[in-house]
Formats: sequence, C-alpha cells, structure tokens
Amino acid sequence: MIIAVDGPAASGKGTIAKALARHYGLPHLDTGLLYRAVALTVRRLELDPAVEADAVAACDFAEDLLADPELRDDAIGQLASIVSAHPLVRAALLQRQKRFARQPGGAVLDGRDIGTVIAPDADAKLFVKATPQVRAQRRHKELRGHGSGLSFDKVLADIRARDARDSSRSAAPLVMAQDAALLDTSFLSIEASVQKAIALVEARR
Ligand code: C5P
Repeated sequence: MIIAVDGPAASGKGTIAKALARHYGLPHLDTGLLYRAVALTVRRLELDPAVEADAVAACDFAEDLLADPELRDDAIGQLASIVSAHPLVRAALLQRQKRFARQPGGAVLDGRDIGTVIAPDADAKLFVKATPQVRAQRRHKELRGHGSGLSFDKVLADIRARDARDSSRSAAPLVMAQDAALLDTSFLSIEASVQKAIALVEARR
C-alpha cells in the first residue's frame, strides 16, 4: 500500500505521515528533507539558490546530511522552497522518491507533490491543511522549544511567503490531487488528526 500525504508547511502532515507509517508498519520518507539537504548544501558551498545550475550541483549531497539537525532551521525551509522551484532540482530528486514509493510492501511519503507527481497511483492520498495562523502558532512553539527567538509575526510572514512560493511555482506546485481526501487539522489535536487520517485511509484502500 502506498500512502501519499501532502500539504503546506506546519500543517501536521509530517506527524500524520509518521503515525500512519507506524500504524501500518510501512517505511516513511519525509521528502521535504531532500529539498532541505539541497538548501543546506547550497548555503555551505556558498552557491546561489536562485541559479538553477548551482542548486542542481547541490543535489549531489552526502547521505549523512539527511540526519543534520540544521535541516530543521526555519531559514533552511525558506531556502528549500527557493531551490525546489527549479525543474532540474525536482528532476534530480524524482527517481529516488519514486523508487522509495515503489518498494515491495509499500510506503508512506509526505511532501507537496506526492499524490500528483511522485505517486499518482497511490492507494490513499491525504491533503492536510490548517489555517496560516494555526500553523504559525505550531511552528512558533516548536522553534521556541529549540531556543529560537523568532517572533510570531515573523514566523507567520515566513509561512505565508513559503505558501505563496510553493503554490505559484510552475514545476509541481502545491495543489491537492483530485482524488485526495482533505484533512483540516486546524481545530484537531494530534491524536484526533491521526485517528481521522487512519479512518480516511481505511475508507480509501
Ligand atoms: O515539508 P518541508 O517544510 O520540510 O519542505 C521544505 C520545502 O521543500 C517546501 O517549502 C517546498 O518548497 C519543498 N518541497 C517540495 N516538494 C516536496 C517536499 C518539499 O517542493 N515534495
């Protein structure tokens, strides 16, 4: 069984995807980490994220980078949304994600284009959303827990900027697949969101 979980930043998609993977005993890939690894490589090599060839050169990152805590930084999320808009960057990361989705026994992948591009034939597709205010509150709390002093207003502005970039790009923009089930987590606890996600998957497979 392939489960595709898409949605904007801090919507709860990562938590839900992880919980679904545990529930069904499937491997899980957070595809945002791949774009974040490209972004971190661009920064470390002092490349220009706006230049497609520079961003493509950074796709050849070392595997152990995927465990680097710096990937979680807000600034790296912003940079990831810049490098991820380049079609050649998306092409460089495509086969790796498709291979993960096609492994025997199935998989859970979360990102922006899983149900539309990576696994259009997924058995269950969820599109997870929440209001920008709720997502900014969650992200603000999480960042504060890691010692970041970013203000709520800055976090909200960053979320809106990332939404706009991810939704308006021409290469694999953030859109809900026609056959996806919508899960709005704005007013749900984590536990309730996970239960609802399992119910939606059960209804679809
Ligand atoms: O999900 P996460 O916030 O870690 O993703 C970071 C950025 O990577 C997103 O803002 C988006 O631009 C990009 N991304 C993408 N396609 C995916 C996953 C992430 O374009 N499948």
